[in-house]
Amino acid sequence: MSSNPSASPISKRLEGKVALITGGASGIGECTARLFVQHGSKVLIADVQDDLGRALCQEYGSEEIISYVHCNVTVDSDVQNAVDTAVSRYGKLDIRFNNAGISGNTKSSILNSDNEDFMRVLNINVYGGFLGAKHAARVMIPAKKGCILFTASVASVLYGDLAHAYTASKNAIVGLAKNLSVDLGQHGIRVNSISPTAVATPMLTDALRMTKEAAEKFVASAANLKEAVLEPEDVAQAALYLASDDSKYVSGVNLVIDGGYNLTNPSLAMAMKSFILLFISTCLCRIKARGCRAYQELGCRIGTASTESGSMVIESMGIEKRKFEEFLSSSSAILKETLLEPEDFANAAIYLPSDESKYTSEINLVIDGGYSLTNPTLPLALRSLFY
Ligand SMILES: NC(=O)c1ccc[n+]([C@@H]2O[C@H](COP(=O)([O-])OP(=O)(O)OC[C@H]3O[C@@H](n4cnc5c(N)ncnc54)[C@H](O)[C@@H]3O)[C@@H](O)[C@H]2O)c1
Repeated sequence: MSSNPSASPISKRLEGKVALITGGASGIGECTARLFVQHGSKVLIADVQDDLGRALCQEYGSEEIISYVHCNVTVDSDVQNAVDTAVSRYGKLDIRFNNAGISGNTKSSILNSDNEDFMRVLNINVYGGFLGAKHAARVMIPAKKGCILFTASVASVLYGDLAHAYTASKNAIVGLAKNLSVDLGQHGIRVNSISPTAVATPMLTDALRMTKEAAEKFVASAANLKEAVLEPEDVAQAALYLASDDSKYVSGVNLVIDGGYNLTNPSLAMAMKSFILLFISTCLCRIKARGCRAYQELGCRIGTASTESGSMVIESMGIEKRKFEEFLSSSSAILKETLLEPEDFANAAIYLPSDESKYTSEINLVIDGGYSLTNPTLPLALRSLFY
């Protein structure tokens, strides 16, 4: 996307709209502000980085197009003032983008997590978004229309990579957005969240202590989708779609932008590869789902699905099963100190058709010790950078 203020797209998808963007002085917010202006929206940037925010607006030369207001998203009167400023300056508020956020301390175990940091992250990322939605709703409900967006994160669907505070905050945002979509849908207001994976904004480059180019290269090396690099413009394009009438019936959605990264965990495949290289030269591996055949024969309708790791048993020539299980557990499993055994599937297969689960239906009971919730590629790549 061109950052030239005068460049104009062929069709202006936000013509006549007014948007308020928090965290708009930098990174994703700044990029979105520029794209929204290109698409005909009036934009009010709300941030605490006054110099940066004002400098951005001055590029455009007129407050009629884009302007700045100081707003700490955790201060109710600031948030109220920002919404009132949008209405008094531009006549209304159509789009509220709750994008301001912080990452907090880097990942550490729960025992070392800092209490103050947890409160600070939740305060800005969640309470700030709550206040933003509340004040936006105050002016959107009478108008019977509006669009509220949040920037969540891939941490809302993928676990273990980031700090507890950040992950908790981004899951809370997705929950808040979905709850709001039901509440505010009654008034014609749509609410959605956007969940990008790592983007080389100041938040990421500061954390990695890398240049933008180095950070992009590093993230790309661990990405699932190759031949493309996630940029702030991609997140801005998602915000444009969700803010425009192109998505007029889209509400309650968490739009994940991660090139499929959260869907995969290559640990098992990598461990298997090294196991096979280590122990056998020629091996015929047959991977077979196991579990509840006996119950199916008895007429119970239970399907055995699988995750990449959990429900699969390798039957290979010459490998002692226990040794193989222990190897997989130590090398790739998330849950340690225990092994996944056929009995675990049998126990689930007894539970599901019995009256003990009489209110359980349409469930895919994943038995993988949490393996499918994580993808350690990026943190592993990060570790190898520093050690
Ligand atoms: N960069 C990433 O890798 C990434 C990935 C997923 C989600 N996100 C999310 O995207 C959003 C934007 O982050 P970014 O990457 O553009 O980082 P950034 O640091 O460039 O921008 C964040 C902006 O939020 C502002 N801000 C922070 N605290 C504030 C407060 N109390 N009140 C008002 N403004 C405040 C900052 O001044 C800054 O301008 C954040 O919510 C972040 O969690 C970022």
